[in-house]
Amino acid sequence: MANQPVRPSDQPRLSSFYQYARRNPIELEKIRINRIVTDAVKPERVLDAFAGDGTSTRIFAKHAKLIVAIEKNRTAIEALLTLRRTRRLAITFSDNLSLLPSLTSNSFDLIDLDPYGNCYPQLEHARRLRSTAGVLLISSGQVQRVVRGLDIPELPASRLYSGKRAVLWAEEVWIPFLLKSLMQGDDLDIVHFFTSPVLTRVVIGPKSIRRKLFRLKTRKRYLGWFELAAVRGHDKS
Ligand SMILES: C[S@@+](CC[C@H](N)C(=O)[O-])C[C@H]1O[C@@H](n2cnc3c(N)ncnc32)[C@H](O)[C@@H]1O
Repeated sequence: MANQPVRPSDQPRLSSFYQYARRNPIELEKIRINRIVTDAVKPERVLDAFAGDGTSTRIFAKHAKLIVAIEKNRTAIEALLTLRRTRRLAITFSDNLSLLPSLTSNSFDLIDLDPYGNCYPQLEHARRLRSTAGVLLISSGQVQRVVRGLDIPELPASRLYSGKRAVLWAEEVWIPFLLKSLMQGDDLDIVHFFTSPVLTRVVIGPKSIRRKLFRLKTRKRYLGWFELAAVRGHDKS
């Protein structure tokens, strides 16, 4: 299935699911952050490994000389193919795990890993592919499992964070795990994160990138009902 050529069909360009998701305030925050990061970092080489319908691909492409967009779902790829085609944009219909090993090390200034669930198998590739000054955007939908007290085999401690305690999961469990997986003796730092009952997202980069990304300081860290849970949690401590 890897790298199959894809022909646009007469299916609808955007699935109704994607149209719904775009009205969701948490999804909108993700898009705002993507814009802030793109405008500040001006990445020339971008890897969008879970490209979906290309909403973020379009944002990342603003300054890019090369953007690699990978997507394994046929309906989403139909939408991706409606993006303005230029030689700068390489769209691949594939499971990203079959393509990432073949990409050149240290070759991307911005890497977005934005799955619905987790992207733990992709982390080692992101670590190898990030350029020295490169920024990583990473999402997880697993916080939904955490709220419900369900198992996450890779992160067994998550069981302690069910219900309202899930507001602390990103900071105390998920982000430390990401940093441990991504560190190569370099100076990676958490520039920003937000967490909500459905999505967590983090911006990771070298310490030197913090100044450029100062606009992220004004963004909320807790969204949805996590906003109240965070205030109560902080009041108690
Ligand atoms: C949250 S959506 C991406 C949204 C997109 N980043 C955006 O901001 O518009 C996740 C997408 O990743 C795709 N996906 C999941 N696992 C994948 C894999 N292993 N390789 C490539 N695409 C994958 C799904 O089909 C889905 O379209």
